[in-house]
Amino acid sequence: MNKTLRKAVIAGNWKMNNTRVETKALINDLIPLVKDADCEVVVCVPFTNLETAVNLTKGTNVKVGAQNVHFEKSGAFTGEISADMLTEMGVEYVVVGHSERRQYFGETNVTVNKRTKAAVAAGLKVLLCVGELLEEREQGITDELVALQTKIALQGIDKADLNKIIIAYEPVWAIGTGKTATADQANEVCAVIRATVAKIYDQAAADAMTIQYGGSMNAGNAAELLSKPDVDGGLIGGASLKAADFATIINAASK
Ligand code: PGA
Repeated sequence: MNKTLRKAVIAGNWKMNNTRVETKALINDLIPLVKDADCEVVVCVPFTNLETAVNLTKGTNVKVGAQNVHFEKSGAFTGEISADMLTEMGVEYVVVGHSERRQYFGETNVTVNKRTKAAVAAGLKVLLCVGELLEEREQGITDELVALQTKIALQGIDKADLNKIIIAYEPVWAIGTGKTATADQANEVCAVIRATVAKIYDQAAADAMTIQYGGSMNAGNAAELLSKPDVDGGLIGGASLKAADFATIINAASK
């Protein structure tokens, strides 16, 4: 992390976990543990728990995010949720382009770009996910692939709106597998993403961009990952479901 240049952001991605009752318990446990955090704290909860999470976190330093958003403003899109519906509810963040959406729900670089633009236009902050599959890493194309994902995702986004975008580097082989990228591997690809942002915009924009690592980040390995200069935070799945573990990661980012 380089906190003189940019904000550290730790976001929990709950995925399809927790009922409303469980949401209340987890958030109520979390709030006192992270009240002095010196980083941005976000919980990305299922759509059905957003209102509960927003109400519980009012007046605290915990921000609420959704896990997806549709790119159209309204219309015949059964089952979808628009950016305006989220902001009206008090939601501040949204995860876009998570690898599980790319793998299981037909998300492409093009739809990631559309969602990013719609979210930014509505005033949401975007946690924009990129990352390579294991076979792509083995083929030696990680850097090019992640640069391409970043480039397409940011197409048509004004430089003035970059402060609403956080990029999460999530190697797909590290997600939910217990296999973490080494701190050096994470830093290397986060640096590639930063260089890509510099190429598209300029160095100042790249220096100001928060770039997270995600993929089996936990209470035990967070401090080392976050010690790297280009790793500005984390997008945390499994370990965000336990208040104490998530708080340990947040404390590591607060140093
Ligand atoms: P994980 O998930 O921490 O459980 O690996 C990370 C993510 O998918 O955002």
